[in-house]
Order: sequence, then C-alpha cells, then structure tokens
Amino acid sequence: MEIAGPVTPGQVSFLLGIIPVFVAWVYSELLEYKKNSISSKVNSDVNLVELGKETVKEDERAVLLEGGGLQSASPRVSSLSVTSNIVRFLLMDESFLLENRLTLRAIFEFGLMMAFFYVSDRTNIFGESKKNYNRDLFLFLYFLLIIVSAVTSFKIHHDKSPFSGKSILYLNRHQTEEWKGWMQVLFLMYHYFAATEIYNAIRIFIAAYVWMTGFGNFSYYYIRKDFSLARFAQMMWRLNFLVTFCCMVLNNSYMLYYICPMHTLFTLMVYGALGILNKYNEIGSVMAVKIVCCFLVVILIWEVPGIFDLVWSPFTFLLGYIDPNPSKPKYPLLHEWHFRSGLDRYIWIIGMIYAYYHPTVSFCSQTAVFRFILGPCLEIFSPYLFFQSHIILLVQVERWMEKLEETEAKQRISIKTAVVMVSLVVGYLWFDYIYKLDRVTYNKYHPYTSWIPITVYICLRNFTQQLRSFSLTLFAWLGKITLETYISQIHIWLRSRVPDGQPHWLLSLIPNYPLLNFMLSTSIYIAVSYRLFELTNTLKTAFVPSRDDKRLMYNMITAAVLASALYSLSFVLLLAPSMLVH
Ligand SMILES: *[C@@H]1O[C@H](CO)[C@@H](O)[C@H](O)[C@H]1NC(C)=O
Ligand SMILES: *[C@@H]1O[C@H](CO)[C@@H](O)[C@H](O)[C@H]1NC(C)=O
Repeated sequence: MEIAGPVTPGQVSFLLGIIPVFVAWVYSELLEYKKNSISSKVNSDVNLVELGKETVKEDERAVLLEGGGLQSASPRVSSLSVTSNIVRFLLMDESFLLENRLTLRAIFEFGLMMAFFYVSDRTNIFGESKKNYNRDLFLFLYFLLIIVSAVTSFKIHHDKSPFSGKSILYLNRHQTEEWKGWMQVLFLMYHYFAATEIYNAIRIFIAAYVWMTGFGNFSYYYIRKDFSLARFAQMMWRLNFLVTFCCMVLNNSYMLYYICPMHTLFTLMVYGALGILNKYNEIGSVMAVKIVCCFLVVILIWEVPGIFDLVWSPFTFLLGYIDPNPSKPKYPLLHEWHFRSGLDRYIWIIGMIYAYYHPTVSFCSQTAVFRFILGPCLEIFSPYLFFQSHIILLVQVERWMEKLEETEAKQRISIKTAVVMVSLVVGYLWFDYIYKLDRVTYNKYHPYTSWIPITVYICLRNFTQQLRSFSLTLFAWLGKITLETYISQIHIWLRSRVPDGQPHWLLSLIPNYPLLNFMLSTSIYIAVSYRLFELTNTLKTAFVPSRDDKRLMYNMITAAVLASALYSLSFVLLLAPSMLVH
C-alpha cells in the first residue's frame, strides 16, 4: 500500500485518540450484553408480554441516550464535572461506559469514516479515473433526477404561517431546502464531470447559499433573540466539526474547503450585526444603521486597497492556501481567501434585508422608519452602491405584492402576471449581458449582480399559492446535507491524492465501467454523507449542552487540554525514530 505524503502529528493524535474510544466502546457493548443476559435469566419465567415491555424500555433509554448522549437524563449526572467524566472514562468505569455506550459508538463510527476518507483519497487501494464531460450525459442525469424526485417525492404542504395564519409563505423551510438541494446536485455534478461551461452558474449557486446564510440566520436571531454561548457553540460545531477532522486526518488546509470558512465568516457577521446592542433590534432605525454598517464594513475591508491584508494577515495560518499543483501560478497565501470571500461579500447583507421584509419577521418590526433612513443613506453612497437603490425598489415591490394577496382576484392575476413578466425580462437581460461573459470578466461583476438571478428565482418560485406550497422532498433531503456532501466529495467521490490538492480525479471502485462506478461510488458517498450529518448532530448533543454553560466551558477546556496532550505525544513519537538514528 502506497501512502501519499508523510505521516503528520495530527494523524497520529487522531489514531491515539480513537483507539481508547474503540476499546471502551467494545467493552461497553460487552457490559451491555452481560447485563441483558443476566436480566433475561432472572426473568426467564416472566411471561412474554413483560419481556416485550422490557425491550421497549430499553429502546426508550437508547433513544434518550442517542439524543442526549453524555447529557444523560438525570440532572445529578449532568452536574458532575467533565473532569470526573474523563477520569471515569480512563478508569473504564462500568456505569459510565454503559451510560455512554451510544456516544462511544458514534465517535468510533466517525473515526471509521475518517479512515475511509484517508484510504480512498491518499492510498492506492482504490483506483482513480479521469473526469470526462459530455453535455448530453450531464443533462440526462440531472433531468432524470428531477423526474424521479417529481414522481416519488412531490409533496404539498399545508402549513400555516404562525404569525398571520395566512397560507404558506414564500421561502419557507421546505423551499429553501429544496433550493439548496437542486443547486447542490448541479454543483457536485459540475465537479464530477468537470462541466466548466457552467462555471458562472456555479458562482450564482454559491452566492445563493450565502444569501440563505444571511436570510436564515437573520430570521433566526431576529425572532428567537438567542445569542447565548451555547447557541453560538452549536452553530460553530455544525459548521466546523467535520471539516476540522478532515483537515487533521487528511493534512489539508481549512481553505481547501473554502465553503466552510466563508459560511463561518458570514454567519459570524450576521451574528455580530444582530447581537451587538440586540436590545434595540426592534427599532427600525437601529436596524437600518446596522445594515448600513454592514455595508460599510464590507466596503472598508474588500474595496479599500490594503485593508484586506491588514485585517486578515494575522489569520494567515488558518486561511492561507497554496495549490500544490506545480502548473498553477503561485499566488500570495491569502489570495484564495480574498477571491472566495470577495465574490459573495455583499449577498449575505441582501439576504438579511430580504429576511427583514419577510412577513414572519416584519410582523414584529417597524419597517417604515427603515425605509426612510436607509433610502437617503444609500443615495449618499450611491457611487459605490448604485445597485442598492434597485434593491430597495425590489423590496418595496415585494411588500406591495404582499398586499396583493388581499386585493381582487382578477386584479391580482394581472399584477402577478406583470411581476412574472418583469422577472422574466430582467432575468433574460441578466443572462444575456452578464451571465454570458467569460469567467474572468464575469467574476468582476458577480458581487454586484448576483442578487438579480436570486431575486428572479424567488419571484418565480413564489408566483402562485400552488407553486409555493409544493416541494420536491428528495431535493429538500439533499439540501439538508449540503455541508457533508460538499466536504466528502473531495475524498470519497473524487480524489485529490495529495495534501491540499484540488480533486482532479474520480475515485474508481469499478475500473473500466465509468457509469457503474458512478452509480456505486455515488451511493456510498451519499450514504456516508448522510451518516456524517447524523453523527455530527449526535455528537453535538453529547458535547455541546444547550442549557449548561458551565459544563460547556468545562468541555471546551477538556477538549483543548486533551488535544494538546495528544498532539505533543504524537509529535514526540514521530520525532523519536529520527532522534534514535542520530
Ligand atoms: C446560519 O448559516 C449557516 C451557514 O449557512 C447554516 O448552516 C445555519 O443553518 C444557519 N442558521 C440558521 C438558524 O438558519
Ligand atoms: C410571494 O408571494 C407572497 C404572497 O403572494 C407575497 O406575500 C410575497 O411578498 C411574495 N414575495 C416575492 C419575493 O415575490
């Protein structure tokens, strides 16, 4: 077996960490088995009905543990400090192992998947093949998937808005997830088949994800007002748990998975924008000032020369990236981060603005002040923000459409038709003048124009009540696991071969049968991604308690201490052989 690249301390510490967990888990399964066989021997004369009850109870406990993990049901246990949990783990305390069997299993399963990532990507156990683009096949597969999901997963939702009681609103969760899903499929297929001709469309999809980051997080924080440490930690866990371990096990830079730092940054910006002085969020003018500040910050960092490097150079260790491919030009370390974060620098704010005007949110806000303040401000900054006044116009159109729902049916239809016509014309103009540009020129315009196709899509998707109320749940399902499918693709669907390498190859499980291989590797890849999504959640509930800040702090400190201990140990272990030689 050939291994690409030297073994790193990160990889050794991962191994050192996972082995005791494996031992503990096997032991806990044994204990569980012994306990069950004893209790069934004791109850051997109990009738079947009671036995049935017993297993149901057992299942309930399992569910509780799965959901609660370490945070097991009784409050007495949860108030115990983590250090004692660690000690109990090291001493292989039997009751501790029994309590946390499912968490141990989840950690071990996660470890196995990371090993699978490593084996697929960095060893020559599986083969690899070249990417090959054929427009016919590409579209065939995509439309096939649409037809299949339309036939099997078409669903009409009858939810009502919790605020107005009106029928289903535009951009409800079903729809945003479906939207993420169909974009993600194209995004992944673009990588798999190297479909360079849709490059510009992919830029739009990524802008749409960032738009949704602004939209979703704004709505959440605005309505829930939950700025707690626990919530923050959970959010960071969701975005960065998997990628952290991938970087460690595969010796990659964080920036190889550029979607993660980008979403983390914009999520933090939304969090900051709403969290600072959050008592005053209800006041329209404060909100307006906040939004203007967001724009100013972005303009300052990305548009004023020199500031970007000044701000980000302390984070070079985290955000630096160099493509190891020798045929690529050598850019400065922060070039990739500048390019990726710059493309979508404004769109998250636009997502926030749309969220602010969404009926569920604007229900509790005073929008008029917002409009009066933001309008003039934007006029002042118009050289930079010439496009923003159009946004305001659009937002107003949107509000005005809202009123339509109540007006006469006949009038409504004609106005709606007009809106759709306008959307179509604007969409067409955008397509003709902007989308068709070559990629370099297109990227220049992208930050200022990406809101156009996004708005057009929202308007069209929102055309009628019927259109709003259905979704294709297969795509919505895929939309839930976009982060996992994004990260895993590089290693178990495609192949990057070397640390920090771009995935230029396909993983080949069935050599010489490209289509069969596509089918098999895709099935494994999607299944693994889904499982990783579940494991991320299971471990999140186990390690990031939502109501116990003290325990959360303990957990974080323990994790840091453990990680540094393991890392130093691995470092020494790796140095030892070479020191012995000298
Ligand atoms: C906030 O944005 C992140 C990144 O896109 C996303 O994963 C998360 O679900 C969002 N949070 C909410 C509450 O929508
Ligand atoms: C979508 O339609 C609903 C109801 O017809 C309306 O309230 C909303 O403003 C519309 N939104 C957009 C973006 O067209």
